[in-house]
Amino acid sequence: MTKFEEIKARDKEYFMNTYAPVDVAFESGNGCYLTDTEGNTYLDFLGGIAVNALGYNHPVFVNAICEQAKKVSIVSNYFYNETRGLMAEQLVKGTNLKKAFFGNSGAEANECAIKLARKYFKVKGENRFKIVTAVQSFHGRTLATVTATGQEKYNKPFAPLPDGIGIYIPYNDEEALRNVLEDNEVAAIMLEPIQGEGGIIPASESYLKLCDKLTKEKGALLILDEVQTGAGRTGKFWAFEHYGINPDIITCAKGIGGGVPVSACLATEKVAKAFVPGDHGTTFGAQPLVTAVGYAVCSKIREDGFMQDVANKGEHLMEGLKNLNDNRVVDVRGKGLIVGAETISGEFAKEVYNRMFKKGFILNVCGGKVLRFVPPLIITTEQIDQMLVALKETLNEIK
Ligand SMILES: Cc1ncc(COP(=O)(O)O)c(C=O)c1O
Repeated sequence: MTKFEEIKARDKEYFMNTYAPVDVAFESGNGCYLTDTEGNTYLDFLGGIAVNALGYNHPVFVNAICEQAKKVSIVSNYFYNETRGLMAEQLVKGTNLKKAFFGNSGAEANECAIKLARKYFKVKGENRFKIVTAVQSFHGRTLATVTATGQEKYNKPFAPLPDGIGIYIPYNDEEALRNVLEDNEVAAIMLEPIQGEGGIIPASESYLKLCDKLTKEKGALLILDEVQTGAGRTGKFWAFEHYGINPDIITCAKGIGGGVPVSACLATEKVAKAFVPGDHGTTFGAQPLVTAVGYAVCSKIREDGFMQDVANKGEHLMEGLKNLNDNRVVDVRGKGLIVGAETISGEFAKEVYNRMFKKGFILNVCGGKVLRFVPPLIITTEQIDQMLVALKETLNEIK
């Protein structure tokens, strides 16, 4: 048995059957490369699904983990800790959002946002409790967030689902937005600025601006799920910063920890005030180890020039994908280093994915037939070009 076969056999025996993994196990990574148990290396355009912002083995990430692990990892939220404040400060910097609650996953950040929105209206004495989300959205796998997720395949098997969530409107549809906000039981509109799992579908600028304006006019809240788009991925720290809007709550995870499980729900002062001690909590969230790493990673991303570089590389990638000039790639879209190339079919996308994998490039298929590119933010233009050459070759191979 090879080392990989042993790993696979143990996994099959003991790990719950919730994924259909590819036949590979990675042992180490460096920069934007991963190495498997057989010693093969891969150039990674998935980055742990938009998580490894600084790639693998980055000194900022490694030093922050090692230094903090030597000091203290977890103390509980019964005590103050220096790093949670430092990380929260980095997250809200330059925005209208003033306070953070930390969790461990994107789903937990969204769960917190839903609870906070409901509590906000309870405190105000208004009967607003409905959480409206978009068709084709993705917000997580807890019962509340999977209900918020506008894709039946994820939530239908788990019915009965919680009340007052699961109200879906078509994304980018201004009339649907106006109509739903006529219902004065709506507490919040919750949207991804770019739908990630749904197929890298950006919200239009006018739509997001209208969401901001109408929620304010109608007295509902705007929650933006920046779990996939946050932490510099779009070329600004938060995607919403491209549009001059002021969401009441945003949620984030993935890139903010650069590889450790940390997420956050950020809110304006006014909304955050609705939570008082005892309303919400977690054992692991906000603890020194993960927030020290998150602080270091976010500080690196906020360094001068870093996000401009992400924006430039994103444009280079999109240009390169458009220049493939292949009629089986029907659309290229995204912002910064969250880019999708929609293909003619799921089967075709899968074929491209498989062939690219064999050549040592890790891509991903989302939204059924969209090739997703969410590489570490430190990817270079040369590495992007290398992938584009392989992609062109791959498309030529497929008849
Ligand atoms: C936009 C968005 N929200 C929420 C989540 C859920 O995050 P997690 O898997 O960390 O719970 C994801 C995960 O892909 C996501 O893309």
